Amino acid sequence: MNWLRRVCRPLPRTLFSRSSLRHPCSGGRRGNCALIVGAFLIGSRGRRSGFAPHLSGFPSVSYSTGLVSVEQENAMKALELFISTEKDESISVKEICTIYIEKLCRSGNLSDAAYLLRHLHSRDINVCLNTYNSLLTAIVESNNFSLFSEVFKSLLISNLPPDITSYNKVAEAFQKVADSDLVVNFIKDVCDITFGKDPTVINRIIFVAAKFGQIDKSLMIFKMLKNLDSKVDTVTFNTVLAILGKAGRINEMMAEFMVMKDLGHIPDMITYSTLINCLRRLGRLDLCKTIANEMLEHGFEMDLLTSTAIVDVYGRAGHVEDALGTFEEMKKSQHPSVYAYRSVISDLKRAGKFELALRLSAEMNSSTTKLAGPEDFKQKRKSRWKIKQVG
Ligand SMILES: *[C@@H]1O[C@H](CO)[C@@H](O)[C@H](O)[C@H]1NC(C)=O
Ligand SMILES: *[C@@H]1O[C@H](CO)[C@@H](O)[C@H](O)[C@H]1NC(C)=O
Ligand SMILES: *[C@@H]1O[C@H](CO)[C@@H](O)[C@H](O)[C@H]1NC(C)=O
Repeated sequence: MNWLRRVCRPLPRTLFSRSSLRHPCSGGRRGNCALIVGAFLIGSRGRRSGFAPHLSGFPSVSYSTGLVSVEQENAMKALELFISTEKDESISVKEICTIYIEKLCRSGNLSDAAYLLRHLHSRDINVCLNTYNSLLTAIVESNNFSLFSEVFKSLLISNLPPDITSYNKVAEAFQKVADSDLVVNFIKDVCDITFGKDPTVINRIIFVAAKFGQIDKSLMIFKMLKNLDSKVDTVTFNTVLAILGKAGRINEMMAEFMVMKDLGHIPDMITYSTLINCLRRLGRLDLCKTIANEMLEHGFEMDLLTSTAIVDVYGRAGHVEDALGTFEEMKKSQHPSVYAYRSVISDLKRAGKFELALRLSAEMNSSTTKLAGPEDFKQKRKSRWKIKQVG
């Protein structure tokens, strides 16, 4: 096997070699190893396919394959044939396999493609992420969650980090699956595969599911993590707080914020601005002030987003003086945002203070170039201002 690997190891690619231009996944030269690999692929009949995933916690993990079925053997034979008929010596085995698997995706032979991906990985031939994504896309369209789950798990085992496309496919698959037990088992397996690593994969799944409107599944996954004693972190909580807040589920959001702190996860600036902004949208001045004060007590400073939110929530609650006070305070240390100006101006108008509204409106007009707009909100951590207490 070692000599096989050595023969097949791609040679370093020269910058403008033909093979590097052929395919986005191009790996290197094939040399004469196609036949060797082909023979090797076939040779594994009746044995366990080689990868030994980490097996803690969940004995029901089903991605380690058992005996090779007739269909699987046929799939391997077909691949071997495909490799052996490729005349162009400059294409690597990896490239040929990639081309073949993408062909299977297009022709709808998805379980063959899934099997071959797994098998190739166990033989140290790793196709690139685009190929996994093509297969995931085709499987979502064919609406087979079990197969989707197998391929996504293979992707995790391959150690390629999934990208935004892969995660979007997870969410699309969730949209189509009716049986939530399938989702539960999928998540258990994902937790098992990522055991001991940071919870990024699960965090992204929770995020993307909610983004695609699957809030119940998102929250179910979060609940599972807590019951499974799986690793969660500040990002997990920030994600869930934002989901609950956007859904207007303020009591649950505040309860999870308490749980977060009880479990020793330190809230960060994102936690606080998420809470403040969600509370602002629902006009919860009381809680906004509480959270803003807690944030200041913990040594964070108001940034553009949180200060604009406070101005806005004061105005909504009809506290024009406080809105104006916060706004003036904000102006001492940074250029207020257009949003803050507009918010204060409309508060003043509503309160009948037209003269002041007009003055601020003129001030806003005369300083448009300096006003913080959406760009500044993106880099919101750059500009900060200090206040000692809110309200
Ligand atoms: C995919 O399967 C069909 C039969 O369902 C078969 O005719 C076709 O040749 C297969 N495609 C490839 C690329 O193997
Ligand atoms: C989903 O794919 C698996 C694996 O290929 C297959 O066994 C199963 O029959 C498929 N399910 C459906 C509903 O097509
Ligand atoms: C500010 O600009 C807007 C639109 O350009 C204009 O309608 C408004 O009258 C201006 N306000 C003042 C006070 O100049």
